[in-house]
Amino acid sequence: MWKGRFAQDTSSLVQQFGESISYDWRLYPHDIAGSIAHARAQLNAGLLTAEEFTAIENGLREIHADIDAGRFEFKASLEDIHMNVEAELTRRIGAAGAKLHTARSRNDQVATDTRLYSRTAIGKLLISISQLQNALLDRAEKYAATVIPGYTHLQRGQPVTVGHHLLAYVEMLERDKGRLTDARKRLNISPLGSGALAGSTINLDRRAIAAELGFDGVTTNSMDAIADRDYIAELLFATGLCGVHLSRLSEDLILWCTAEFGFVMFSDAHTTGSSLMPQKKNPDVCELTRGKTGRLVGNLMNLLVAVKGLPLTYNRDLQEDKPPLFDSIDTLTLILAVNTEMIAAMEIREERCLAAASDPMLLATDLADWLVKKGVPFRHAHELVGKAVAEAIRTGTPLDQLDLPAIDPAYTADASVVFDLQRALAARTNPGAPSLENVRAEIARWKSMLQK
Ligand code: ARG
Repeated sequence: MWKGRFAQDTSSLVQQFGESISYDWRLYPHDIAGSIAHARAQLNAGLLTAEEFTAIENGLREIHADIDAGRFEFKASLEDIHMNVEAELTRRIGAAGAKLHTARSRNDQVATDTRLYSRTAIGKLLISISQLQNALLDRAEKYAATVIPGYTHLQRGQPVTVGHHLLAYVEMLERDKGRLTDARKRLNISPLGSGALAGSTINLDRRAIAAELGFDGVTTNSMDAIADRDYIAELLFATGLCGVHLSRLSEDLILWCTAEFGFVMFSDAHTTGSSLMPQKKNPDVCELTRGKTGRLVGNLMNLLVAVKGLPLTYNRDLQEDKPPLFDSIDTLTLILAVNTEMIAAMEIREERCLAAASDPMLLATDLADWLVKKGVPFRHAHELVGKAVAEAIRTGTPLDQLDLPAIDPAYTADASVVFDLQRALAARTNPGAPSLENVRAEIARWKSMLQK
């Protein structure tokens, strides 16, 4: 492709070092769509005859079909997807193929291809995330009223429900969708026509090319358009954070399926056994989700570090943007699918949840609130309940069986009404709090928002 200036062939080691076709072949649908739009603009600018354009378009569509069918031989000597497609087109249709690269560079081509790839990938991720939200929502509905302890510092804090806990993840996933949608909006502009870095002396209709490719507009600085990989960084951040959310969900579920918690049971299909210990049933899906999230975070670091030292505009370092991009999309796609399946099939062990939630210590804050409603300032109420808790621990008496009025006259005999889980939950009616009524209203809201 650059034989004019060179007397020697590229060393085979350099070829091996520099090729990207082994991974960027997957850009072919976008590369071909970009080339057809570019050729049409050449036709409209009078640079191609109608026959030449038709030969190019048909030739590219045939190459597309051959790649789809696995009939295309990619050559590492042609480096990347752009040169593999163009060289094959020229081999098939002759001179017209050699005109295609007029007013274009691989630099604006690769930026276009990766924007189109990212746009498609985001569309698919949005659907997969909604499916996982629906699976969580279904379980939240089934176990809307199942009370469990809510934790801070992994210490029992206050009563919540499984429904409320699972809906917290539905919220996080909705924010992930928001970030992806936002990234898609920003990336959907066409860099084609920016050339190698300084546009071209041959003017093609950039807006028409952009419209044909479904872009919302064109980039407005050719140097930025060539050097920019922000859209990949944003996508890697959004996928990384989505992974972090699912890693936290995994951690909850790993705890919940221990003998110590015993809140959840996964189906046999979503767990593995031990080759040594016959009794084991391991939450590998959760552990691998947690583990693979390390890759998602690493991919973001990989790209940011690759870009941080680059002067404008294109530098070959940028070829290293694609392995982390593809890996994050593939990894998150699989994480979402497998978690959706596992969560749809998981069962909550309600008797174990109730046993854990029946710890009267969970209602210590409610007891302080009860004192406050009797007119005791909160700081004083906190201290009084602290004394009762210390007494319960010292004497080994459950908090709800202490003689509270004997500890302080601020407690009257009716303080014991506090130790009723249903009452405690029902009182949590403020927006965002876990009363059953609130949780059911949230489930209804999500259901109408997430239309299957
Ligand atoms: N394979 C290259 C990449 O992924 C395409 C752009 C090559 N441009 C160049 N000037 N060598 O970045």
